[in-house]
Amino acid sequence: MKRYRPLRIHPVLREALTQTRLDKRDFIYPLFVIEGSNLRNPVPSMPDVFQLSIDSLLEECKRLLMLGIRSILLFGIPKSKDSIGSDALSDNGIIARAIRELKSAFGTDLLVIADVCFCEYTDHGHCGILDSNGILDNDLTLEILQKQSLCLARAGADMLAPSGMLDGMISAMREVLDTHGFYNLPIMSYSTKFASAYYGPFRDVAQSTPQSGDRKSYQQNPANRNEAILESLNDERENADILMVKPALAYLDIVRDIREKSLLPLAVYNVSGEYSMLKLAGDAGVVDYDRILLETMIGFKRAGADLIISYHTKELFERGLV
Ligand code: PBG
Ligand code: ZN
Repeated sequence: MKRYRPLRIHPVLREALTQTRLDKRDFIYPLFVIEGSNLRNPVPSMPDVFQLSIDSLLEECKRLLMLGIRSILLFGIPKSKDSIGSDALSDNGIIARAIRELKSAFGTDLLVIADVCFCEYTDHGHCGILDSNGILDNDLTLEILQKQSLCLARAGADMLAPSGMLDGMISAMREVLDTHGFYNLPIMSYSTKFASAYYGPFRDVAQSTPQSGDRKSYQQNPANRNEAILESLNDERENADILMVKPALAYLDIVRDIREKSLLPLAVYNVSGEYSMLKLAGDAGVVDYDRILLETMIGFKRAGADLIISYHTKELFERGLV
């Protein structure tokens, strides 16, 4: 009989032989910025997540840095929305101003990653421009995506993260960024993103629920493994710097598939619905919250993720779990 238990008995040996470890530097914390001042609006569907006005965002980031959190993913929520998401195209828009203030307050201490998409900025809640049939017009949207990318680059974003699942989005962004001298600005592509019910709570926070229809014409079918791999490999060819799988928990097989087929860094997005499920289960006392949290994060890394985007980041650091 081959015995496996001898290596599991002594805690020091067990610890020494731990194959997957979490590192503080793996984590990226999503934040939401709104117009106004001194605001810290709670979100009912996501305990401990807030919409922050720019002044509150600056305070929050100061606290995050004190905790040791160095990377944030920023989403802007404008005051007024229209059919093409104009606020996202303006140097005076909410996200551009927030990034400028963050960069002048924290410089290179904080990595500011900017979401590149239109669903938070359009009145119809879709991720770009709609055609006369109400379908997302891919190529027209690429044009405003280029404008948005430049606007974020000029504001000082340290990395851009396009989340709209448009065909050709990485090539379009790379081209415009390079032509304007931003050839050193990295792009983290939401390269494999599924049309998922796990995004429900996020759409409350970001006020980005589609007013009609759904996102199935641009986000991927959860049942399709081949397409999931093709999409990420395509973004690698378009010169994305980092790939991503989103959501995380129900798609760890895809994380492993892409890990084995690409040598690029890979991120997972532990999305809003995944966060709220654990949070509510923890609050209800039906699971050991801290342990389940760590087990979940370890699962992401074991599957092959280098970076973990998670709303749990702050509490992981606060409780000294990482
Ligand atoms: C859309 C976008 C989504 C998320 C971030 N950007 C999904 C969507 O609404 O379709 C989801 C993040 C989360 O659920 O935490 N561009
Ligand atoms: Zn979007």
